[in-house]
Formats: sequence, structure tokens, C-alpha cells
Amino acid sequence: MVRPPALAMRLLPARGPLRPPPRAPPSRRGSGPGRRWLLSTPIFYVNGPPHVGHLYSALLADALHRLRGLRPGAGRLATGTDEHGLKIQQAAAASGTSPPEHCAHVSGLFHDLFSRAAVSFTDFIRTTEPRHCRAVQHFWTALQGRGMLYKAFYEGWYCTPDECFLSQAQVTERPDAQGHPCKVSLESGHQVHWTKEENYMFKLSEFQEPLRKWLQGNRHVISPEPFYQLVLRWLEEDLPDLSVSRERSRLQWGIPVPGDSTQTIYVWVDALVNYLTVAGYPDTHHAWWPAAHHVVGKDILKFHAIYWPALLMAVGLDPPEQIYVHSHWTVRGQKMSKSLGNVVDPVACFTRYTVDGFRYFLLRQGVPERDCDYYEEKVIKLLNSELADALGGLLNRCTAHNINPSGTYPPFSELCFRKDSALMPGEASGRAVAEDYQLVASVAHLPSQVTHYFEHFQIYKALESITACVRQTNGFFQRHAPWKLCRENPAEKQWLDTILHVTLECLRLYGILLQPVIPATADKLLSRLAVLPEERALSDVAFLPRYHGKLCPFEGRQLGPDTGPLFPRLEMPRRRQLETKGP
Ligand code: MSP
Repeated sequence: MVRPPALAMRLLPARGPLRPPPRAPPSRRGSGPGRRWLLSTPIFYVNGPPHVGHLYSALLADALHRLRGLRPGAGRLATGTDEHGLKIQQAAAASGTSPPEHCAHVSGLFHDLFSRAAVSFTDFIRTTEPRHCRAVQHFWTALQGRGMLYKAFYEGWYCTPDECFLSQAQVTERPDAQGHPCKVSLESGHQVHWTKEENYMFKLSEFQEPLRKWLQGNRHVISPEPFYQLVLRWLEEDLPDLSVSRERSRLQWGIPVPGDSTQTIYVWVDALVNYLTVAGYPDTHHAWWPAAHHVVGKDILKFHAIYWPALLMAVGLDPPEQIYVHSHWTVRGQKMSKSLGNVVDPVACFTRYTVDGFRYFLLRQGVPERDCDYYEEKVIKLLNSELADALGGLLNRCTAHNINPSGTYPPFSELCFRKDSALMPGEASGRAVAEDYQLVASVAHLPSQVTHYFEHFQIYKALESITACVRQTNGFFQRHAPWKLCRENPAEKQWLDTILHVTLECLRLYGILLQPVIPATADKLLSRLAVLPEERALSDVAFLPRYHGKLCPFEGRQLGPDTGPLFPRLEMPRRRQLETKGP
């Protein structure tokens, strides 16, 4: 029997309208005191080694997790590998190993990469683990128990590299490498195959309205905003039922359907349930669910913003609280692909730019709304200018022996830098000038600006703001040229110490705020400033307390040891250097 999914849906018995579940109480949501969050990266296919795109997904989640960790609350960060499905079965066969061996090897590569990249995951899940198989089978049984599944003959296109079913409208014809006509997915360009088999279908079509209501009631649930709008537009189109199993004879590498040995659970249902597995499903997930915050690439948005919330509603659970979407990395303007030989190996990038350098580059240049381009010169230029010169240079300048011979956090003088609100019109402000007050205002505002940008998934903007302040601080230092002041003159010494104090205060704040992005460099910076590990939370950030007439716990403290430049200056690749040289 040939029946497209949309038709299958119309044969269903009529049911009452489904409602979106109510939201969790505000105290459990992602902001405010006592908040909880269960951040996740997508789980990664093990058909090939990790590349820079995978690392980017993980770094975005890590930076957010680390930033939140600087405030009170409890959070987790889950990542892992997606190990079932036809393409893994095929990849194992191609590499001449068994699927379990192949998966263990590639999963290990992801685990190592993320550990090396300082991704602070609290759980690394593999979908081949018994705890996950149990969760998936329990989830399936719950779907079945609620009448959300039925068996039908499915006939249509299947794209193995994307592991998804496609409608006729999502398929086009293109010549393959040999010039033969070949059917491919419109979206990914990957080849598709006609599939005809008996499957279990999920009544996805019943969730069109509940999904729309859920989105309309939670305008910020998907960010950035253009992706939210995109999902709403998808929901205006036909939403056919979804095939959620494959015949076991075609796909053995997967979790069997409970009670039906002829079927294997569809790899995307298997994969999505990982978010519940790490929350402790089916036993203890209530402590964490629905405080789930998923970071996903734009190519898998439909699975996370339509299929997953619908599946959750179908078993009586809340949809995730937040879905953060990012775009893709290209290399010198081209899509990364094995055939083009331009896949960027993150481990080689760590060697070339250091771990923190590459983290900084990806998070500073990655704009979630649009695709971003990677090339070596861009990385080097950015890191040299922002980390080595601006930030590292600033630290150097105010800790150098000739300018700060006692190696301390010197005292601040209210007489040199008078509080602007206390000044009467026309009254002198000591030695500070208007730009200095602007600097103090910008830096004081920075922590709330940075947290705002992080929570709105605009980490690049947070870094842009920090960099702008670093530039302003360098301007402050340059403007007052403390190296020209004479230490022997008490009035000049007071001003010199104040300049150093203000600069060190700025650096302390940058160090605290940069921890989520460049943890090792921030640690080096804060240690040099003698800021103790227990003084590095956002609550400790209080900037320049002496300016507000309060005590500064750092004043007079001996600085930490000098362990060399904060960030190394990187060499431009030779070939390019020559290319850019004039005749
Ligand atoms: N296994 C699924 C996800 C299941 S989650 C329940 C999957 N895996 S993947 O390995 O193909 O992709 C994982 C993540 O890497 C996705 O978020 C994807 O967008 C991201 N990237 C893959 N290539 C990318 C780039 N070139 N650039 C940025 N990220 C990209 O999909």
C-alpha cells in the first residue's frame, strides 16, 4: 500500500484538540536567583572525526555554561555522540570495523577534543549506553501508551547522510560526480533514496496548533529571532505525520522497538531523547526538566523546534525552555567538505593559535544569525590585535617594573579622581578628564551588558564590548602617560598610583568577564593581579569601589608572579606575507 504521510494522518480517528503544556514556574527558569539550567550541545554523529563546526556548537554552549556558573544557581552541560543509524552502520563497514568499535573510536575523538578545548561538560552521553537505550524504550512505550503511534506503509525519499525523510517538494535532481542525474535533498544537497516499508508513524500532524501556541506564548524560546520566525513559517505549511521507525532488516544498528523485533527506532527519536537521558529520565528528570537549553546548528532546527517539542508534548512533558541556534562556518568562502579537502581540524588550530586563541576567534567572529568564514590570516590578525597587543599590552604596561616598581595594586586617590556626582559645577575633578569618566561609566556598565549579550546568544557582541573597553583603557593610559610622572614628587606619585589602580581595576573586570571564553588566559591575568579563585564570580565584580568611597580589597596587595606575556604574538604565514608585500 502506498500512502504518503500527510494522507496517513487524515485516516486517523478524530481526537480532541491538544494543548501546549503550561510553562514551568519562573523561579525554575533560566534567569534569576536559584535558577537551574541543563545546557546541551547537539550529540555528534560518529561517521567522521570532529571538525571546527562541531567545536563551535560545543564552545557556544560551554561559554554560556561558564558565564552562568559565575552567578548563583545550578547548571549542567551535556554533550556526547549520536551513534546509531544507517550512516554509522555504513561508515563502520567502510572503515572495516564493527559498529561498536568504530563508535568507540570516533566518540573518543570527540571526548578528547572537547576535553582539550576546555569544554566544561558535566556529562558525555553515548547513545549506545544502556542508560540511554532504557530511556528511549521508556519514551517509546509512553508514546505508544498515549496512542501517539500507529503502523502504516511509508513510501518516500530518505536521505541517509541527513538521516531524514523528505517530501517530493524537498527533493531536486542534479548530476552526480559522473554526470548521471541524481536525486538530492534541496536543503543539504545530499543524495536521497526512495524508501518503501512498513513503519511506525508518530501523529505529528496533531501538534501543529499546540506548537504554534507554544511559540506564540514564548516569543524568546528560539533565538536569534529570525530562526523563531522561520519556525513559525514552517508551521504554516502542511505538517505530515512522521515515520519513527525503520525495518530492522534494513537497519540493525539502532535501538529495537519494544515488543516488535521487526523494527528499529528512528535515529532522530533515539538522538533527541538523549536530552532526557542526561536529565535522569525516566526516574529523576523532574529535578531538571524542562530547564533544558539546547544549542543547535541551523541545519537541525526543525528536529529541535518542531519534532522534539511535539514528541515531548505527546508524552506529557514540557518542551525545552530555550533553543539557541547558530549558523555555519565556511572556509575561505566555501562550504567545508571532505571532497574539497578543506575540513578544518580543530586540534591543528589549537597548536597554531593555542586553545584560548581559537576559542576566542570562534566566539568573537561567530555571529549566530549568519554563516561565518574562517581563514588563517583573519585569526592571526584578530588575536594579535585584541589579545596580544590590546589586552596583553595593557597588562604589561601597568605591571612593568619601571612603572610599578613595588609590584603592587597601588592606592587610589579620591583627590586625583573625584567622584563626578560630588563635583559642583565648575569645580575641578582632580586630574581626571571627561574621557576618564566615560571610561569608568563604560566599564561599570560592562558586566550587565556582557551577561545580557550572553543570555541573548550574542556572545560576539559581549566580546566586542569588552574589546571596546580595553581600547578605551589603553587610551586612558596613553592619555595620562604615567611613565612621564615623577615618583619622587608626592602629588605626581598619587596620580601615578591612581592611574595604575584604575587600569588594574579595569583589567580585573575584563579577566572576570573573559573567563567563559578564554579560561586559561583569564586565569593567568587574574593570577597576575593576585585575584584569588574565590574572588572571580560576577558578585565579586564591583568595579572601582574606591571611586564610590568604599574599601577596595585589592588595594596594597602584592601582585602575583610574572609568568610571561599574557598571549603570544602570532606570525603570519610566510606565503601570505610575501603575497601581500608590494613590488
Ligand atoms: N547527530 C545530529 C544531532 C543530534 S542532536 C539530538 C547531528 N550531528 S552532526 O555531527 O552532524 O552536527 C552536530 C552539530 O554540528 C550541529 O549543530 C551542526 O549544525 C554543527 N555543524 C556541523 N557543521 C557545521 C559547520 N560547518 N559550522 C558550524 N556548525 C556546523 O546533526
